Amino acid sequence: MKFVRPYSALARVYDAVMDHVEYDAWADYILHLMDSWDAKEDEAVADENATDGASSERQTSSRSVLELGAGTGLLTLELLDQSDVDMIATDASEDMLRLASSRLEVFPERSRVEVLDFSNGWSAFTGSFDVILLLFDGYNYLLDEKDVAAMLQGVADHLNDGGLFIFDQSTPHNSINNADFFEDEGELEGAEYIRKSSFDDKSNLHTTDFDIQTSEGSFHETHVQRAWTLDETKRLLKSVPLSHVAAYDGFSLDSAQSESERIHWVLRRNPR
Ligand SMILES: C[S@@+](CC[C@H](N)C(=O)[O-])C[C@H]1O[C@@H](n2cnc3c(N)ncnc32)[C@H](O)[C@@H]1O
Repeated sequence: MKFVRPYSALARVYDAVMDHVEYDAWADYILHLMDSWDAKEDEAVADENATDGASSERQTSSRSVLELGAGTGLLTLELLDQSDVDMIATDASEDMLRLASSRLEVFPERSRVEVLDFSNGWSAFTGSFDVILLLFDGYNYLLDEKDVAAMLQGVADHLNDGGLFIFDQSTPHNSINNADFFEDEGELEGAEYIRKSSFDDKSNLHTTDFDIQTSEGSFHETHVQRAWTLDETKRLLKSVPLSHVAAYDGFSLDSAQSESERIHWVLRRNPR
């Protein structure tokens, strides 16, 4: 058994691990958030212009979207399929991105992939975007407050003024309420995995161990995620030039509560 870093061997079976996820519905939800909050910004700008006597203009070009922690591009593909966004899909794992790259070949004009570690890899990254996304627990891989601060600063630096940052998080309630799903196994094209999780409610650390069997051998990965609470995230968000727009419970449009298992956050870049 070889011990390897997270999302190296797992990349081979990742799509099977995520088999239960309805990425088409998730993309629909995210596009709805983008549309409704962009529209609200447009209305505010239109009102301002009307007061100033200036002509109101709507943004007609397609949005530029940077996706952090995009993995194998499962959500990216749905977002491209359901809208006219231009996307750069990034991830720290080259093994995951290799699969994303071949998945996104159907949208060569509107997508590309790039390696980016969102906790400490921003210095060499260039570009400015209308929307930045970090979805399906990427945020939970940040274990320390200083790593969260570095991620948020990178996002603020690369968002256009008024641009949106949409990310989700898993909370301690998700880990506590779903302990029944802590063990499972699956297979993809001859490769197999066994997954076992545990949750420490003192540290709020959620640990997942994967045993992965491929034609190249047996591999073990340990993933540690931090289940941040609603209040912790709220406090951490205060340190950056991003304004709170909304925090939603799960995939709904209801406000997040401290008991929410998953929260979708929407933030807007303050004008520079
Ligand atoms: C659960 S997967 C989600 C992937 C994708 N968003 C999806 O919905 O299928 C989490 C992803 O975050 C990536 N990740 C974790 N920490 C990261 C970091 N510091 N920088 C960039 N990517 C990271 C992992 O490599 C992995 O691909």
